[in-house]
Amino acid sequence: METKSKVTPQLMMAVGTAVIGSFQFGYNTGVINAPQNIIESFYNETWSSRFSEPISRTTLTALWSLSVAIFSVGGMFGSFSVGLFVNRFGRRNSMLMANVLSFIAAAFMGFSKLASSFEMLITGRLIVGLYSGLSTGFVPIYVEEISPTGLRGALGTLHQLGVVIGILVAQIFGIESIMGNASLWPLLLGFTLLPAFLQCVLLPLCPESPRYLFINCNEESKACSILVKLRGTDEVNEDMQEMREESQQMMREKKVTIPELFRSPNYRQPIFVAIMLQLSQQLSGINAVFYYSTGIFERAGVSQPVYATIGTGVVNTAFTVVSLFLVERMGRRSLHLIGLMGMAVSAVFLTLAMALLDQHRWMSYVSTVAIFSFVAFFEIGPGPIPWFIVAELFSQGPRPAAIAVAGFSNWSANFLVGMSFQYVEQLCGPYVFIIFTVLLLGFYVFTYFKVPETKGRTFDEIAAGFCESASQRADKYSAPKEFNTLRGDDPDL
Ligand code: GLC
Repeated sequence: METKSKVTPQLMMAVGTAVIGSFQFGYNTGVINAPQNIIESFYNETWSSRFSEPISRTTLTALWSLSVAIFSVGGMFGSFSVGLFVNRFGRRNSMLMANVLSFIAAAFMGFSKLASSFEMLITGRLIVGLYSGLSTGFVPIYVEEISPTGLRGALGTLHQLGVVIGILVAQIFGIESIMGNASLWPLLLGFTLLPAFLQCVLLPLCPESPRYLFINCNEESKACSILVKLRGTDEVNEDMQEMREESQQMMREKKVTIPELFRSPNYRQPIFVAIMLQLSQQLSGINAVFYYSTGIFERAGVSQPVYATIGTGVVNTAFTVVSLFLVERMGRRSLHLIGLMGMAVSAVFLTLAMALLDQHRWMSYVSTVAIFSFVAFFEIGPGPIPWFIVAELFSQGPRPAAIAVAGFSNWSANFLVGMSFQYVEQLCGPYVFIIFTVLLLGFYVFTYFKVPETKGRTFDEIAAGFCESASQRADKYSAPKEFNTLRGDDPDL
């Protein structure tokens, strides 16, 4: 069943406003990279003036790692709290309220230099991490719920597009001649205030999710009039009927809590798939590139590492756009598979190039191309798809709890890679990316066997597919059909 897939101005306005939250997440992922040395000098000066002695290298490294990684700690807590907000306050109002965190964070980071306090900067990073964690739940839920079935993948990819544009803008603003210098870095970090302000102005003009109004609040007529505007047509019966069925279905279900997701045989399989997809995104090693690319390029013999880093941001953005156009044609599953395999192959080339650098200087070019293709393949599938597919794998009842669990897994793995990469790199030298190759191949096999295609299917149909396979699992004679269903190529679906 495919509903009409028209991009109306109202729909674009709502999605565009929501993904300002994604931009904030990306901006704060990328912003701390370029000005590292300058902000470290500030830490040193502050330390010296307080304790009348320069900061030791170990303390500085520890403080810096904390400043970088505390963002993902905030993200872990934020993403885990998504369920507390979305059902109580609604999707749109939750996004609106979360901006309080951005304003506070911007103030903490922006005034840290004036107050000679690195504690303020670190606290600001934690708070903006909380905001970003909430956003990685709020935005995909809202976007998936307001989009017509046939556009859910493409519009869901806009969340990732917001993230990658945020990273790119941060990389560019962080150039020394723009804001990555000793006097302007507080502005670079405080910039987060502007998107927050913009989102606060625009969100009240956007509608609440009609699925939330209908299914959670029982406001059928309000949902219907919003849907008419979003779809740009009076013919919304099909959507309304689908929501009506889901609403009836939900009345029969108990409220779904996080432990319930793991206990109920109907949810166990999709939550496992959701977690693995999030892990495949982070354990692919992508943030080793986005947090440490300048160092990686340096060791790979690249002469202009800062510009090569911006190159990764450009490739990253370009290929997210490519994915946007492919996702409704080729489907989620195939793109994810292509992306994982492409990344694994790129990682092998990168390793070879780094290992052979001493014998052949031109290997630095091979490394650059390998890193660019690693990033490009990431954005074909593993970048955008895990973020929105979780909302697709679950119906209205379990969706918030599932998004919270998936987001928490993603941010925890992000933290793990961010914290440990430099240490593991010291141990493994040029062979560090082999670890990611092995993980990528493992995730490829998992996706091949366990991830169903969700393209063009309603939430209800997708959930029904999992329930069917759960009941088949109980029936030992139906094993071969279950295999087909989970691979997503069951002709019945
Ligand atoms: C995804 C990841 C994020 C990463 C980004 C890179 O959004 O969740 O951690 O930095 O892609 O484009």
